[in-house]
Amino acid sequence: MFRELWDEIAPIGRDPRTGGYLRLAWTEPERELREWFAAQAARRGMPVTDDGNGNLFAWLGDPADGGAVLTGSHFDSVPQGGGYDGPLGIVSAFLAVDTLLARDARPRRPIGVVAFAEEEGGRFGVPCLGSRLLTGALDPDRAAALVDRDGVTLAAALGARPAGADPDLLGKIGAFVELHVEQGRALAEVDAPVGVASAIWPHGRWRLDFTGEGNHAGTTLMADRRDPMLTYAFTVLAANKEARLRGAHATMGRVEVTPNATNAVPSLVRGWLDARAADAATLDALLGGVTAKARDRAGRDGTAVSVTQESLTPVVEFDNALRGRLGAAVAARTGLRVPVLPTGAGHDAGVLSGHLPTAMLFVRNPTGVSHSPAETAGDDDCVAGVEALAAALGELACD
Ligand code: GLV
Ligand code: MN
Ligand code: MN
Ligand code: MN
Repeated sequence: MFRELWDEIAPIGRDPRTGGYLRLAWTEPERELREWFAAQAARRGMPVTDDGNGNLFAWLGDPADGGAVLTGSHFDSVPQGGGYDGPLGIVSAFLAVDTLLARDARPRRPIGVVAFAEEEGGRFGVPCLGSRLLTGALDPDRAAALVDRDGVTLAAALGARPAGADPDLLGKIGAFVELHVEQGRALAEVDAPVGVASAIWPHGRWRLDFTGEGNHAGTTLMADRRDPMLTYAFTVLAANKEARLRGAHATMGRVEVTPNATNAVPSLVRGWLDARAADAATLDALLGGVTAKARDRAGRDGTAVSVTQESLTPVVEFDNALRGRLGAAVAARTGLRVPVLPTGAGHDAGVLSGHLPTAMLFVRNPTGVSHSPAETAGDDDCVAGVEALAAALGELACD
């Protein structure tokens, strides 16, 4: 059952040369996945609604009754991402609904399956864009004006200005449970197929613009150069060092160079810093350390650096009571031991957790690799994930 449904979406957006995925929000592959979502909903007689922010919902029962139990994740990927990050939560959601119904469970609350838009921020730069809009954490006018790398605005991609906060819809959701492939090795190390999340590290994204003087590579004396590439390179090393010192994570995985020519000293290097830490004070100190070192180095290189925050997600502590209840229900139904683990990855569940009781289930990732074509999960573990999610939905929504 799992493999059959999984194989329906596995080819969509897959690069045959690398096995990696490119499923940016509102591009062709992601639209195809949305059509697949609608077809799955129709197959199960679940009406589909859209919140005007690009988030899709399929309903079993009438959400107007309130107290709905929502489950799902996102379709979009990072460039050359894995196939499981996101879609596993949506495929598992439909299969968990099937499992419940096959057992003649009688839902006493509506159950919703959701596909959130632009979770990765891979196209417009703001992660969890759909859930931030829905919860009011992101201003719809600011979002409408965001541009992708080709200069297309979010409003154009969505076909309208986003609708923004929907307190009415949020008020009808009693709980959200997101199933996700684990993005580390914690479950593999304790030999458990499924775990529950305790917390998400605070994290954010900053754009660093290093400006200098574009000039000729052959004729400009080394002493005369104002080369922003040097300041950038130093900053990459400084970020790594600052993170290691603090037991935190810093990544500079994206860079744009102007004019990007072999024989020209660049005039501008734009680099993005992704920084994460176990607590807000450490994250602040990490950012402070990196920017101070970048500015100091810019002074020595005759360049300038400006820092723009693109997103910031505070620490998330998932609802303790819900986590305990789900862990117990999953263990009772499946006989599995269900470890509890924190994560450094961001999720729509983290955004929703500020508004309603929220929990996450993780499915073992044997290598821990994610945001890479090498991301994987075993079929047996994915089936265990569906069982666990069905147990969770049964606990929250059924008699
Ligand atoms: C999304 O997966 C993130 O944590 O960057
Ligand atoms: Mn991801
Ligand atoms: Mn994800
Ligand atoms: Mn994520």
